[in-house]
Amino acid sequence: MTIQWFPGHMAKAKREVQEKLKLVDFVIELVDARAPLSSQNPMLHQVLKQKPKMYVLMKKDLADPVRTEKWLDYYKEQQIPAVAVDAGEKQDVQALIIVAKQMAEEKMERLKRKGIRPRPARAMIIGIPNVGKSTLINRLAKRKIAKTGDRPGITTNQQWIKVKKDFELLDTPGILWPKFEDELVGYRLATIGTIKDQLLPLEEVAAYTLNYLQSNYSNMLASRYQLEEVNNNTEELMEHIGRLRGCLESGGLVNLEKTADVIIRDLRTGKFGRVSLELPGQ
Ligand code: G4P
Repeated sequence: MTIQWFPGHMAKAKREVQEKLKLVDFVIELVDARAPLSSQNPMLHQVLKQKPKMYVLMKKDLADPVRTEKWLDYYKEQQIPAVAVDAGEKQDVQALIIVAKQMAEEKMERLKRKGIRPRPARAMIIGIPNVGKSTLINRLAKRKIAKTGDRPGITTNQQWIKVKKDFELLDTPGILWPKFEDELVGYRLATIGTIKDQLLPLEEVAAYTLNYLQSNYSNMLASRYQLEEVNNNTEELMEHIGRLRGCLESGGLVNLEKTADVIIRDLRTGKFGRVSLELPGQ
């Protein structure tokens, strides 16, 4: 596995998140609905300590709806508030606001019980790069907030977005890194496009994608690439897909890199249908 994160970079990201955490009452962690575990941040639990947290399973429109329901049931069992969101759907964003408002109200109640004058509860959005943080902040703010970039260490003037009467959101998200130690996590994140294509060999990512589709979504795979049977080995499949999609070099040989690119792009843009790469309890 060749993925490298600079320890200094990670330490800085963690410090920034810790600073921002001091300002908020609860945290909204974004994960990708197609891989909620792999797109979680490994450090967050430790960094959060006692802060309440809710999950938002982003990009629900690209994920397998049956599996998304299973994930929501799973979080419910764990008593962790969670919603699945397609940022393009107003009612999903509204559902998120309702859950966040409940969390805000709980905070206000706690303040009241302690005899402290209630104030709006404050939250921040947190998540790994590319999970949809800026998109969601813009939806909640109903305007475009400047993107700070994925590199920590860029200080901006933080402001509060008033989402509802009792609920305010920090306009800059907390950015943390995904967990790369596990090779499978890397392949899943590369498949859904969360980590940059250069980080893992494209052909390996495509091979992972094909194997996963063969075992879990064989009908979708067969229908997309006109396969009579899906039990071919990966090389045969790549060869078939390359020819079908015209990824050829001079001399008629299949260009495997182009073929890999086609497969991964097909998955990321939902051409197979809605696919998820993880199930709870796996
Ligand atoms: P980040 O701040 O966490 O880094 O993520 P950002 O909001 O920039 O979103 C990353 C990509 O994910 C964007 O696409 C964005 O449009 C897309 N995205 C966010 N939420 C959803 C969602 O619920 N469903 C789907 N299908 N996509 C979502 P992009 O191609 O990088 O940019 P653009 O095409 O939006 O310009």
